Amino acid sequence: MQALSTSTPVAVIGAGAMGSGIAQVAAQAGHQVFLLDQREGAAEAGRQSIVKQLQRRVDKGRIEQSALDALINRITPVNQLDDLASAGLVIEAIVEDRDIKRSLLTSLEQVCDDDTILATNTSSISVTALGAKMKNPSRLVGMHFFNPAPLMALVEVVKGLATSDAVAQCVYATAAQWGKKPVTATSTPGFIVNRVARPFYAESLRLLQEQTTDSATLDAIMREAGGFRMGAFELTDLIGHDVNYAVTSSVFNSYYQDTRFLPSLVQKDLVDAGRLGRKTGQGFYNYAEGAQKPLPATTEKANSVADTLIVEGDPGPLAPLVKRLAASGLNIIERDGSGRLRFGDAVLALTDGRMATERAAIEACNNLVLLDLAFDYTNTTRLAIAVAGQASEQARIDACALLQKTGLAVSQIADRPGLVVMRTVATLTNEAADAALHGVASIGDIDLAMKAGLNYPEGPLRWSDNLGFSLVHTVLTHLQQSYGEERYRPALLLRQNRFAGKGFYS
Ligand code: NAI
Repeated sequence: MQALSTSTPVAVIGAGAMGSGIAQVAAQAGHQVFLLDQREGAAEAGRQSIVKQLQRRVDKGRIEQSALDALINRITPVNQLDDLASAGLVIEAIVEDRDIKRSLLTSLEQVCDDDTILATNTSSISVTALGAKMKNPSRLVGMHFFNPAPLMALVEVVKGLATSDAVAQCVYATAAQWGKKPVTATSTPGFIVNRVARPFYAESLRLLQEQTTDSATLDAIMREAGGFRMGAFELTDLIGHDVNYAVTSSVFNSYYQDTRFLPSLVQKDLVDAGRLGRKTGQGFYNYAEGAQKPLPATTEKANSVADTLIVEGDPGPLAPLVKRLAASGLNIIERDGSGRLRFGDAVLALTDGRMATERAAIEACNNLVLLDLAFDYTNTTRLAIAVAGQASEQARIDACALLQKTGLAVSQIADRPGLVVMRTVATLTNEAADAALHGVASIGDIDLAMKAGLNYPEGPLRWSDNLGFSLVHTVLTHLQQSYGEERYRPALLLRQNRFAGKGFYS
């Protein structure tokens, strides 16, 4: 199906943050755009906010003044629905209220041509439900942009039960022509991104509640070792805790209170206190003028007399770390084994989702020190470790000294199953696998959505494949055993992959 021709006018209803951004995107692509808002002067204000945005780019020499003038001339503020009659695509970005959106959509049906596509930018309302009162719901599709729309590449094209394939395909092709990265999703709560991302916040919040370490250290681990742009606490401070908590609660309630999506009391407390993040000057962090952001906890420099690293068997995902350690001038001895590393008194291993203390007891290896996952062990600047309760102080020192030889900042955290990055990646993968199993979107589109919508360093399903087909399943199984909760039960697809000996992409 072809994209809309740029000679087809596009209408945007609602000239708030999203509507103005979407109008800008459509005008940038060359369409004539009608911008409508029920608040007097709001459409013109929306147009002016676009001028302001783009003027900065003109001032920096990134675009020509003439391009800005031409673009702005393509955007026409209008006052009534009748003015939108010639549009071939109408995108509504009005208030997030089912009944108000429904009423607008039925009114649009009376004004627009029969083949005009009606799109909704809703982030949480069922597209199926929005179409239910329409004469022809097959022409309604979700076109879910992310904020700020001109900058964020992702557009979720959301199909309701009645949405025609041709309409979804046309909107997909049009979004691609506008320079976006579209993905197709069925209309299920949270669509792709707002559903699959829940564990990113939930696991950090739980680790904080369990006093694993402080928020600055958890954020630093997620950023530096996980490769995420921001940790969960700095990100939710930016999004606003009211907004983030509302999305979590909405997904939780929409899935009939499935405990996998359980909101966090830690976050509710912030909402109750009015500590909504940057916008109120206080969230997890203090944004008052002159306030210093706390530094992450870094284990102090350790000294060890050991100079030989014993690598027992295939280190698996730790192989790049072993290479990095070898480059720091250590003697390396390789021998058979199960992937452990030995240095002085320390026995190091990648977390498999069990607490170090539990695994040390089961494997009769008192001096066990578990390493967290890093997105890129070659370049990570920080790594979290957990030390078994039975381990000697010398084992702890040797483990820290070993890692510090490569310049790594070591954050020793309390002994919790799956540490930080590993349990986050495992639970993200789990949610993504469920979404794929339920036909919400394809495996490729889920990964693309998480990368383009949230700047994740890798899609969770590809990431899981890269770790080896069974590791994430093992981590989740152990997390489930530790907590006894449904929240960590491995998704069927992961289980199937594990027994088939293959990954999501193989
Ligand atoms: P906003 O509050 O900034 O703007 C909404 C605009 O719609 C206001 O200017 C309001 O006057 C206008 N409006 C309300 N009812 C109207 C009606 N019946 N007819 C014409 N105009 C009407 O809201 P925002 O943030 O732009 O969100 C708009 C939509 O986009 C919502 O459905 C929201 O869930 C969705 N969305 C929001 C995102 C965000 O980060 N803010 C991200 C993705 C989707």
